[in-house]
Parts: sequence; structure tokens; C-alpha cells
Amino acid sequence: MKIAIYPGSFDPITCGHLDIIKRSAAIFDKVIIAVLNNSSKHPLFTVEERMELLRRCVKDIPNCEVDSFDGLLMDYAKQKNAAVVIRGLRAVSDFEYEFQMALLNKKLNPEIETMFMITNLNCLYISSSVVKEICRYGGDTEGLIPEEIINDVKYKIEKEC
Ligand code: PNS
Repeated sequence: MKIAIYPGSFDPITCGHLDIIKRSAAIFDKVIIAVLNNSSKHPLFTVEERMELLRRCVKDIPNCEVDSFDGLLMDYAKQKNAAVVIRGLRAVSDFEYEFQMALLNKKLNPEIETMFMITNLNCLYISSSVVKEICRYGGDTEGLIPEEIINDVKYKIEKEC
């Protein structure tokens, strides 16, 4: 069984993430979406909330599982028996960070491959941060985040202000 891990902050999941998840699930036997439990960042949603939003968006993809992790991604991937880590690539600006991370991860565990998927053209400009900013100023987030979670993001941002 080929297991892939799709790690990230997912604060919150965007249409770009969902596109990568769907395409990965069509290739691998199982895709584990792994939310980083990172206390040093100041996320809008808690890890549990982010997992709940993700679960809602992937409920119709049977070979997807949502989980969280802390510590090193490579330790988590090994523990889950994963062969591959998936990362989405948008613009050249993503490349330097992703390149460094892939090489570091390869050094930590040469048996696990990082595979990059180029983001769909219509998701190229989407990131969780821009979505939150648009929401903060009352802009339209249709097509940027999955419909199932639009109200949750709006509500959370309103509460934050
Ligand atoms: O969505 P993000 O914030 O770009 O995801 C980054 C993530 C979670 C993939 C990355 O920060 C990560 O793997 N963190 C775990 C710590 C780790 O393994 N670091 C060493 C490799 S750089």
C-alpha cells in the first residue's frame, strides 16, 4: 500500500489545498493530511478546528485521512509508514523554501521521497494568508476556500476583530 502524507498548516484549507488533495488521492492508496501542531505560529484556528474543517472538505474522498503531528515531519512519516510527502508548488517564490525542506528531509530520511505537484492555474494565487486578509476586509472568498467552510472562516475572523 502506497501511503502519502500531505503536511501543512492548513489555517484554513484553501481550494488550492483541496485540488492537491484530490489529485494525490487519485494516485496513492492512502493520503494522510497532516496538520502541523505548531505552537510558535499564531494560527487563526486551533489544530482541532483545522482538522474538523479539513474532514468536512474531504468527507467524499474515501482514501483520505486527517491527522495532526508535532516534531519532525520525517519522524511522523516513518511512524505512518509513508513512502512519499506531497507538497504543492505555486510560483517560483515557493521553490527556495520547498527545495531546502525537501533536501533536509531527504537527509533526515533518504527512504522517503518528496513529490511536488504544480498547483492548478486557477489556484496559483491562493494562500491561507491572503484568504484571511480578504475575509478581514469583507471581500468575497468564493472560489478561494471550499464552500463548506466559508461561514466558519467569516465567523472566526469576526470574533477575532
Ligand atoms: O503549510 P506550511 O506551513 O507551508 O507547511 C510547512 C510544514 C508543516 C510542511 C513544515 O513546517 C514541516 O514539515 N514542519 C515540521 C518540522 C520539520 O520536520 N522540520 C524539518 C524540515 S524543514
